Amino acid sequence: MVDPHVFVILGGTGDLAARKLLPSLYRITDNGSAYPVILAVGSRPNSDDGYQRWAATALVRAGIGADDAATWARQHLLYEQVARDAASFAGLRKRIEQVESDRGLPGNRAFYLALPPAAFAPNIDNLRDCGLNDGPGWTRLVVEKPIGTDLESARSLNETVRGAFAESQVYRIDHYLGKETVQNLLNFRFTNPMFESLWNRDRIESVEIVVAEDLGIGSRAGYYDKSGALRDMVQNHLTQLLALIAMEPPNSFDAERIRNEKVKVVEAIAPIQLENVVFGQYGPGSINGEAVVGYCEEEGVAPDSTTPTFVGIKTYVNTWRWEGVPFVLRTGKRLPKRLTQIALTFREPALCFFHGVPDGCEVANNMLLITLQPDEGFSLGFNVKSPDTDTKLDAQALRFSYSDVYRRLPDAYQTLLLDVMKGDQTLFVRADEVEASWKLYQPLLDHHPAPHIYAAGTWGPAELEQGIALCGSEWMGR
Ligand SMILES: NC(=O)c1ccc[n+]([C@@H]2O[C@H](COP(=O)([O-])OP(=O)(O)OC[C@H]3O[C@@H](n4cnc5c(N)ncnc54)[C@H](OP(=O)(O)O)[C@@H]3O)[C@@H](O)[C@H]2O)c1
Repeated sequence: MVDPHVFVILGGTGDLAARKLLPSLYRITDNGSAYPVILAVGSRPNSDDGYQRWAATALVRAGIGADDAATWARQHLLYEQVARDAASFAGLRKRIEQVESDRGLPGNRAFYLALPPAAFAPNIDNLRDCGLNDGPGWTRLVVEKPIGTDLESARSLNETVRGAFAESQVYRIDHYLGKETVQNLLNFRFTNPMFESLWNRDRIESVEIVVAEDLGIGSRAGYYDKSGALRDMVQNHLTQLLALIAMEPPNSFDAERIRNEKVKVVEAIAPIQLENVVFGQYGPGSINGEAVVGYCEEEGVAPDSTTPTFVGIKTYVNTWRWEGVPFVLRTGKRLPKRLTQIALTFREPALCFFHGVPDGCEVANNMLLITLQPDEGFSLGFNVKSPDTDTKLDAQALRFSYSDVYRRLPDAYQTLLLDVMKGDQTLFVRADEVEASWKLYQPLLDHHPAPHIYAAGTWGPAELEQGIALCGSEWMGR
């Protein structure tokens, strides 16, 4: 059971609060996992009542019934107006203490920075200056992505955090880690020795990770044009997936031990060679039969922007387990479909008796496909003899799909928020891991190749397939 506490959302009037945090908090209390008092903070004048009405509307938009939403908002939500200056944080402290006293709470507090990144550091300083970094019970700080925009800014943010909070109080969000299937990577690997015994350079020829989006940038040009695919997806989400695939088994399922193993992987990734990188930018094309404009024609994007909307990278993990095995990361916008998938291609049979037999014989490499979205599950490809032929082989697959067995998977934010309340840091990114990751990609931020234009609705620039991708794109979405 979770300790009683006050859950403070700094930026409780924003888009993230409306679309993700409030619906997740609703579900957490609805299924009885925890009952925090939620105190939303914003600089706009509003009352508890007014905020509850605003929040109820947001919950209805998230699919929750109007009566349930209104009742829940009245029961759980409070609002505090706090101007964007240090002095007004004293008022926030008073309000929290008042709420704790009124409700007989022991002084446990979580502070969620649901704020624009530029506001993270000043708000952390304000929390420290008014003494809210430490309280009568536990105090936890949740930091949203992005953690910096490069190595220097990530270090600086970590420094600010360290100036106010101990690492054991800090929860850095990478919402990918909250996805059920991403968490399941650990379970899959470390509870199925059948796979773990093959999980190495002797048996695996290559690993490919794709995070594809069919959407363009929508109304996020202001953010995206400064960010691009490397910052937006590779430095965080794809690197997290790589770390979970490549890490050594921890000695226990303890958060620190798991995080230690992940950091070791990120530190062991070989410096990325420019010839192993393809940057791309979507041009006009069509998605699902609908014509779409190119990136530079999107509203808010300069016609000569060179921001990459696609990155393909081949790299290596220099550990005993993975030496020489290429890891290919691929992510992009306006690709044919929304898909997050990991492909582990196993080596060919040591000796193939069937080559050169009349009739021909294609021995497909065994392939394990792990799909993280949209159709979560696994598929293991293997060869079978095609009936009525002497030697012809067919590639078939054993499949497991979550949707066939389980009803609804919890939303990533629901999982992560509950973990914050429980004090479990396993699915949160530690400061050293964030910095190791930025360190790896910083040279590409400093000098990245010009993006190749790819037609929207394709799997990215042809240069990727010709140069660094190993298995083409036929496996994707299988
Ligand atoms: N939106 C998403 O789906 C999403 C997804 C993943 C990650 N994130 C991350 O989550 C964070 C919040 O995103 P968001 O989309 O909710 O942002 P947002 O809507 O732009 O801002 C959230 C709130 O922050 C307050 N705010 C704005 N500037 C501030 C400042 N300088 N100082 C203090 N408060 C300020 C505003 O509240 P008042 O006007 O009431 O003060 C605003 O309602 C960002 O770091 C973003 O990168 C968002």
